[in-house]
Amino acid sequence: MSGFAVVGQKKLNGFVNLHGAKNSVLPILAGTLVVEGVSVIHNCPQLSDVEAAVKILEHLGAQVERKGHTLTVDATYVEGCEIPDVLMREMRSSIVFLGAVIARRKGAVLSSPGGCELGPRPIDLHISALKDLGVSIDESGGVLDCRCFNGLKGTEITLSFPSVGATENIILAAVTAKGTTVIHNAAREPEISDLADFLNSAGANVQGAGSDRIEIKGVKALFSTEHTVIPDRIEAATYLCAAAVTGGKITLQNCVSGHLTPVLSTLKSAGCNIMVHNRNVTLIAPARLKRVPVIRTMPYPGFPTDAGSPMMALFSVAEGSSMFIENIFENRFRIVDELNRMGAKITTNGRVAVVEGVYNLSGANVECTDLRGGAALVVAALAAKGVTTIGKIEHINRGYENLVENLEALGADITRF
Ligand code: UD1
Repeated sequence: MSGFAVVGQKKLNGFVNLHGAKNSVLPILAGTLVVEGVSVIHNCPQLSDVEAAVKILEHLGAQVERKGHTLTVDATYVEGCEIPDVLMREMRSSIVFLGAVIARRKGAVLSSPGGCELGPRPIDLHISALKDLGVSIDESGGVLDCRCFNGLKGTEITLSFPSVGATENIILAAVTAKGTTVIHNAAREPEISDLADFLNSAGANVQGAGSDRIEIKGVKALFSTEHTVIPDRIEAATYLCAAAVTGGKITLQNCVSGHLTPVLSTLKSAGCNIMVHNRNVTLIAPARLKRVPVIRTMPYPGFPTDAGSPMMALFSVAEGSSMFIENIFENRFRIVDELNRMGAKITTNGRVAVVEGVYNLSGANVECTDLRGGAALVVAALAAKGVTTIGKIEHINRGYENLVENLEALGADITRF
């Protein structure tokens, strides 16, 4: 068994250089399949989810080479259109390969992603949009068999919810479709804009990414390109929470503060001093954090659901009670039981959690339930009196590169065992 051992209550102080955004790299790697040539992707974090995406690319016939944080994907020859169940299961977000494989191979066969640690993960919006684009889809025995021998045709699609993954799948399928596709009520996350920038650099015509109306004019083919992935805003939020609970001071380098607006304003309301200078964001924590009455997770530009868990760990040691309302994933609060083992006072009722701040958390043996829940345990452990051991850290390895090394450099007492 591997895990982290943390001796808490050491003030964090120093700098962290953010890695590339996990949630950008995955759709961009899917997008390299639509490029009939070589894509050089810089600022790719070394994460288990990224390695899982690479395995899928290689399985489909692409050649992938990694040098440090640069991945070179040669998709000149892509023969396959089937992704085996074992690879689909390695990474929940592998569904984002669907649109890209269909665009490149005029068909795709893969297993339905099923549920995950955050609850059921329906893909109805992905499926109905692809059908609108002309794909015939047979769903049986847990397998999606998608065909469009006559090619994809641009159309108008209105999403009933601004799903990030569905927006990405539509863009990926539509870049080389015949005619124009318009997505109404599209997701506006920065990772969508990053995907569009990558595709446009390869010759695509995607306009309006970052707004709720995205227009994709189909082009014949995409060609070799080079792209640098945006910094990871959820990694940024996690380190800010980590420094804040220890009463420390941290500067994030390579950070786009505009992607973090609701997170930074919540931290300011909690009493943190935040300074932004170009791509540096500095946080100075107060002696004691204050409550924030309500934190509501929402699609971008609202408060990101992925930052909710580390923020909950932060408010568990703030003065007074704060309320979290989770509007995206129904099982986001699974981590609450583990936080309560450490002395947090959190009660949940459906999508609402009330966090009554305590003066001190205390070290305990806890286990990650999911990626961001794992990040919450690390934040809590840094705040807690005594030693915390954190198990099931494979969840954390999906989204944080060099977490232990970065925290150690900031002055944390953390070891991997
Ligand atoms: C992405 C992010 C994830 C983040 C989430 C919300 C990646 C790899 N993952 O996930 O970290 O937490 O956005 O910001 O980028 N839904 C449906 N039907 C669908 C699709 C989605 O009902 O066809 C529901 C989901 O169950 C969920 C909500 O919509 O409740 C949001 O899902 P979505 O925006 O699609 O998130 P992901 O793309 O899966």
